[in-house]
Amino acid sequence: MSLLRLQNVSKIYNQGENRIFALNDVSLKIENGEFTAIVGKSGSGKSTLLNILGCLDTPDSGEYFLSGRSVGRLGENELSRIRNRMIGFVFQSFNLIPSLSACENVELPLKYRGIAKDERKHLALTALDEVGLFERAQHKPNQLSGGQQQRVAIARAIAAQPQLILADEPTGNLDTKSENDVIRILKRLNESGKTVVVITHGKKLAKIANRRITISDGKVSD
Ligand SMILES: Nc1ncnc2c1ncn2[C@@H]1O[C@H](COP(=O)(O)OP(=O)(O)O)[C@@H](O)[C@H]1O
Ligand SMILES: [Mg+2]
Repeated sequence: MSLLRLQNVSKIYNQGENRIFALNDVSLKIENGEFTAIVGKSGSGKSTLLNILGCLDTPDSGEYFLSGRSVGRLGENELSRIRNRMIGFVFQSFNLIPSLSACENVELPLKYRGIAKDERKHLALTALDEVGLFERAQHKPNQLSGGQQQRVAIARAIAAQPQLILADEPTGNLDTKSENDVIRILKRLNESGKTVVVITHGKKLAKIANRRITISDGKVSD
């Protein structure tokens, strides 16, 4: 069974006159343990695809199976439960909460999962250690470089040990050194068994993936 399977999925914006097929009849499978890069021009449908894979959005037609389970018709509560248990997200713009320390940012999704305070702290510090930021646990985002902030965001994504990491242009705002740090961390996570799906414009990141999916005008070609 594939970890992720899309079957004839379409996503349409502006229903009516000026319909945009952000995804147009997309079928694909991603297996457990793969490192997949999604590439394509701006506006081609990459983020729409990742949002559906991450249960942040649902298809207008077709079916999406996550771990064999059809998720297209689940309600928001159930979707958020799945996201929280199975998926870690990393975005281009880090999305950290400015008033919280690195450690508190990493702890936040664990709090939503109902994990008790001591355990939360332990998991958060372990995750920060994994991305090389144990010493920065008490720093606020504005006391960290962009690359460090993105590593905190990765720690937040992995703290609850999700099976699947989804990243939307995670190196898009980073300098070369930070880009290399993030690439190394994603590669290591994949080697430790996580399934990684990453949208990227960067050649380096696309290169280390063991599979590339190209999307163009909402259509996918392998
Ligand atoms: N919320 C939305 N409302 C209307 N159109 C949207 C929305 N989100 C995306 N689109 C359109 O869908 C297409 C695909 O967008 P997107 O998935 O963000 O592309 P990419 O991530 O490859 O740049 C684009 O034409 C975009 O303008
Ligand atoms: Mg995008």
